[in-house]
Amino acid sequence: MASLKTQIEKAITGQRALIYLMCTEEIRILPILEKLASEKSFRFETWSCVKGLSSKENSESTKDPAEAIKKIMADGKRGIYAFQDVSEFMYKPEVKRALREFNSSGESGTGQFIVIISPELNLPENLREEIHLIDVPPPDDEEISAEFSRIRAMYAGSKIPDGFHEEIMIALKGLSIGGIDSILHRIFKADSTDREVIFNEIFDEKEIIIRKTGYLEFTPPRALMTDVGGLGNLKEWLVKREKVFTREAIAAGISPPKGLLVMGISGCGKSLAIKAISSLWKMPLFRLDMNLVFSGIYGSPEATFHKALKTVGAVAPVILWIDEIENALGLEEEGKLSISSHIFSSFLTWMQEKPPLIFIAATANKIHALPAEIIRKGRFDQVFFVDLPDEPERREIFTIYIRQNGGAIENFDLKMLAIMTNGWNGAEIAQVVSAARTDAHYENRQFTQGDIAMNINSTVPLSTTMESQIKNIRSWALSRATPASKNARILRY
Ligand SMILES: Nc1ncnc2c1ncn2[C@@H]1O[C@H](COP(=O)(O)OP(=O)(O)OP(=O)(O)O)[C@@H](O)[C@H]1O
Ligand SMILES: [Mg+2]
Repeated sequence: MASLKTQIEKAITGQRALIYLMCTEEIRILPILEKLASEKSFRFETWSCVKGLSSKENSESTKDPAEAIKKIMADGKRGIYAFQDVSEFMYKPEVKRALREFNSSGESGTGQFIVIISPELNLPENLREEIHLIDVPPPDDEEISAEFSRIRAMYAGSKIPDGFHEEIMIALKGLSIGGIDSILHRIFKADSTDREVIFNEIFDEKEIIIRKTGYLEFTPPRALMTDVGGLGNLKEWLVKREKVFTREAIAAGISPPKGLLVMGISGCGKSLAIKAISSLWKMPLFRLDMNLVFSGIYGSPEATFHKALKTVGAVAPVILWIDEIENALGLEEEGKLSISSHIFSSFLTWMQEKPPLIFIAATANKIHALPAEIIRKGRFDQVFFVDLPDEPERREIFTIYIRQNGGAIENFDLKMLAIMTNGWNGAEIAQVVSAARTDAHYENRQFTQGDIAMNINSTVPLSTTMESQIKNIRSWALSRATPASKNARILRY
């Protein structure tokens, strides 16, 4: 997209005398307008109902917007006139009329331009045709970079490693200039060299924006890739893409990945792996709660879904996690198209054209319900199938949970534990280790191999009760998706 300055410049070159900028940030817009005016040797004035026109001689007599417009026209001076918060006055007949007259004389090339700055679109019907509307995008790379350099210059001797600068600028995308300023001041004042402290500062700001929506939930980057046992192929895929959301990669024309679909058996680490992407890529992760979208609390599901995508787009780069996508995008019900299928088709279209800095992470359980279009190559960069962990993977998962529960690995026979838990999922393994710890805690001692073994013996894993379903899922998925585990094909065929 052309930069904001270019967009305004185009409107001016095209003799659009009335320009409407939809934007909350006057502090960002006014310097751009002033710069444009000086480049074109125009005068630059602002107007507000409190101060009138900014030129001293006019201010008192021009607090009324219709008077101000008439004055500009009578003076005939070429210039850019920025009207702040005028949109509510535009419904008054004199103001409406003055704007229309200004516009028709402007068409003949008076070199006078009124720029209306307003946070929302508030336009009388009969002015719509005449006004050139620009929905101001969040600050672009150039603006962010200029702001970063400006604020950094105030903190000479900052300890923040240079290597973080690019990443910080990317993470700031989607925020307002006001937000960017206050974050940068906080970061430079704290002067921490800890990457997590720095990035949390930025993610927190994004969370506040997103939380206002209600149906998007910020998921803090607590899970690490090292918390995920097994799933070697999936992890490798993610690690390889760790650097593709950087400025250099984007500038070099490397298109960032669009998204990932992870489907498979319940309790095997799909959600956990998605959460870990956030800390690996240093990008905030938002979960879209489809149940809330469908609840109708926020308006029609379709409109809510669109709003969600738009909001997320505004704070990109982000990871958007759509959990249980099969429920969200279910297809026909009794031969009739349901609302969700409309959402589904618009989602697919959106996937094709979506802003490049949104990464979609979708997870699915009921994979038979997944429509073929979603699995087809091109929508998602990769579709992974997560199966029950094999023996080496179970050993890895035990290692993770024994450590997390404060046990010393050398005191446990991991191989034996892995053999005892053939057919178990990761959630069940996590559960027996934590139960063993609880048992031992009651007796005021460390948990042992025996405690875990006892809990294993008293647990019936899901795969025993769901054997046939799991077989079906496996045969369906392995022909359509890449195994998330490294050794999957070798072991199972
Ligand atoms: N591969 C794994 N490595 C580490 N922990 C795991 C793994 N798989 C499962 N777990 C543990 O089990 C819990 C549940 O896993 P998770 O929510 O990721 O499963 P899921 O595949 O998303 O299941 P569902 O399909 O039911 O949503 C995790 O929070 C984690 O504690
Ligand atoms: Mg899950």
